[in-house]
Amino acid sequence: MPPYLAGRGQESSEFRRLLKQTTILENLVLTGLRGTGKTVLLETFKPIAIREEWYWIGTDLSESTSVSEENMALRLLTDLSVITAGIVVKTDKQLNIGFSIESKEVRRTLNFAALREIYNQTPGLVADKLKHVLETVWKYIQNVDRRGIVFAYDEAQTLSDHADDQQYPLSLLLDVFQSIQKKDIPFMLVLTGLPTLFPKLVEARTFAERMFHIMFLTHLKEPDSRDAIIKPTEQEKCPVKFGESSVNAIINISGGYPYFIQFICREVFDVWLQKLDIGEKPAVPMDEIIRKLDSDFFAGRWSRATDRQRELLSVAARLENSGEEFTVQEIVERSKQELKNPFSSSHANQMLSSLGNAGLIYKNRHGKYSFAVPLLDKFIIRQLEQNQ
Ligand SMILES: Nc1ncnc2c1ncn2[C@@H]1O[C@H](COP(=O)(O)OP(=O)(O)OP(=O)(O)O)[C@@H](O)[C@H]1O
Ligand SMILES: [Mg+2]
Repeated sequence: MPPYLAGRGQESSEFRRLLKQTTILENLVLTGLRGTGKTVLLETFKPIAIREEWYWIGTDLSESTSVSEENMALRLLTDLSVITAGIVVKTDKQLNIGFSIESKEVRRTLNFAALREIYNQTPGLVADKLKHVLETVWKYIQNVDRRGIVFAYDEAQTLSDHADDQQYPLSLLLDVFQSIQKKDIPFMLVLTGLPTLFPKLVEARTFAERMFHIMFLTHLKEPDSRDAIIKPTEQEKCPVKFGESSVNAIINISGGYPYFIQFICREVFDVWLQKLDIGEKPAVPMDEIIRKLDSDFFAGRWSRATDRQRELLSVAARLENSGEEFTVQEIVERSKQELKNPFSSSHANQMLSSLGNAGLIYKNRHGKYSFAVPLLDKFIIRQLEQNQ
């Protein structure tokens, strides 16, 4: 967590609005490029939900969760059991006492083993079993003073179906939640991940389009960037205070992206402490920080691209709208002006798609492209200038 979470007030009130639902018509997708603050925002949603009397469960997802439908079911049962393990249910048990049989009321909790048992004993497909477990759990917890359960999953872009193995864990998740929400069971999905997440959901199930409210995190607005930089230094005994020009410099290099703000502030903070120690007047070491950012953050990603891919990325980085969205056509046109060996439409398309798989380019639902890493365009321009 950052020492001070700047901005994001609108997103938090949107989330509060979603928590007011009694019938869940809208679930949440929290998305954005790397380092825009999805995970830390999700963390702050948790206490909000709990204060509004919801249960909150969830974890980080990984590819292994969506290897099979069974794995997905296991994930949900495991997470669910964290809250249900405290719920005591009464069942009748037939006891053999010598030659006679006596019925005795036994108390047991809905721990993982109990959920698993309900699951195993339900006939049908994985979806049927899972729905039955969720319905049973709701039957017991609706008496507890909670409005419902938030299922919060980070890194949800790792989910996928596998037609080759006939395993559809992503579709399973969507089917199950749609079905129980239709039955008025207030279990809400909050999925967090990179911008590939929502298109993936819609590709698996078209109804996902209507099932989710999308929050797209981008850079912080200027006053919020300012807060993110200054507020942590306002704490008592903080030896470092940034002046106006330093703050502006940090906003400028970071582009307002939270990860970069934090990276740069840490660097500046450390350098300043050392300078103060030896009695020197500190300033923001711009060039050093940019060089460090380039080697720590961008270089690894850049090195994964082939020469020809770099050529295409460089064309894109030089477009006026490189920081926003661009089209294949724009790249093709520009490459004709700039390169001896320009890109054809189909070749550019193909390469953008492989750059998408490599996590460098992102294609939105309207067929437009953008850099999948914030400020990558500026890094590329710096590389080109250095090479020249
Ligand atoms: N609103 C904010 N104010 C101040 N700092 C923030 C804010 N949001 C995020 N940060 C800081 O920025 C960094 C990146 O945040 P976080 O890890 O949540 O991003 P993310 O979107 O989850 O990234 P990834 O896509 O890599 O998972 C963290 O160090 C975090 O502390
Ligand atoms: Mg994250």
